[in-house]
Amino acid sequence: MMVFDFSGKNALVTGAGSGIGRAVALQFAEAGANVWVGDISGDNAAGAVAEMGRHGGSYGFTVVDVSRKDDLTVMFAGAARAFGRIDIVVNSAGVFMTRHLIEATPEEIKRHLDINLMGAVYGCQLALETMIRQGGGGKIVNIASVGGRHGELDFPYYALGKAGVLNWTQSVAYNAAPHGINCNAVCPGIIRTPMWESILEAVAGEGADRDALFDEMLKSRTPLGRAQTGEEMAYAVLFLSSGYADAIVGQALNVCGGSVMS
Ligand SMILES: NC(=O)c1ccc[n+]([C@@H]2O[C@H](COP(=O)([O-])OP(=O)(O)OC[C@H]3O[C@@H](n4cnc5c(N)ncnc54)[C@H](O)[C@@H]3O)[C@@H](O)[C@H]2O)c1
Repeated sequence: MMVFDFSGKNALVTGAGSGIGRAVALQFAEAGANVWVGDISGDNAAGAVAEMGRHGGSYGFTVVDVSRKDDLTVMFAGAARAFGRIDIVVNSAGVFMTRHLIEATPEEIKRHLDINLMGAVYGCQLALETMIRQGGGGKIVNIASVGGRHGELDFPYYALGKAGVLNWTQSVAYNAAPHGINCNAVCPGIIRTPMWESILEAVAGEGADRDALFDEMLKSRTPLGRAQTGEEMAYAVLFLSSGYADAIVGQALNVCGGSVMS
């Protein structure tokens, strides 16, 4: 049952075409918010908007590549035109990178960080600029990862980008708080979204049992013993976007079944 009421609020969610971002967008819609979706996949974005439709709010999308600030500028303008103001921005768009530390090419590293780090950098820049201009405060939530809490043996570039997002969340929070704008992050653990399918595809050998591999990776890392869900990430995002979180500034909330405890 939905305990948050976001009636009259307008949220913008990147990466809302799939997985965690989509679950966040749906929970906002269920809680009464109008939602604008930004995603590189028009089909995914349109699907999310169609799914939100039953809730009776206002929904729309812009096809964006979050690594391009110009795209994000168009997306913010689209949402502002449709809704009048933007109260909440969630930066969820992201990809995984399984390349080995030594073997990754400069082009691969740059493309990865352009999406996972610079996407959040530009998203926060535009969110802060928009919210300060509007007045009346706002909430910004970045979807980071427990993988950004420490270095990683197998996924060093993913860890690098997410560590950057966590650091950036704090810098944005310093600049935002005096304006009544909160910037925080959520660190998901393991949720079996299409992103995880891409990890399993890269890690599993020919003919490997992906479900068994997923189970092994999950159990070795997670005291809770089960995968988390997009909805469980959304609950944390909605909390951080609500008035209950007004005093929470520059924090990162692990929602990971205990895989990381600091
Ligand atoms: N699934 C997990 O276990 C997990 C764990 C920790 C953190 N995360 C983070 O959560 C976020 C969402 O991941 P997910 O698991 O929901 O993945 P997902 O693949 O299900 O969804 C990602 C969405 O982002 C979009 N996207 C990808 N590149 C984009 C780009 N350049 N511009 C705009 N949109 C783009 C995709 O089209 C897709 O709709 C990511 O930032 C990811 O790093 C996921």
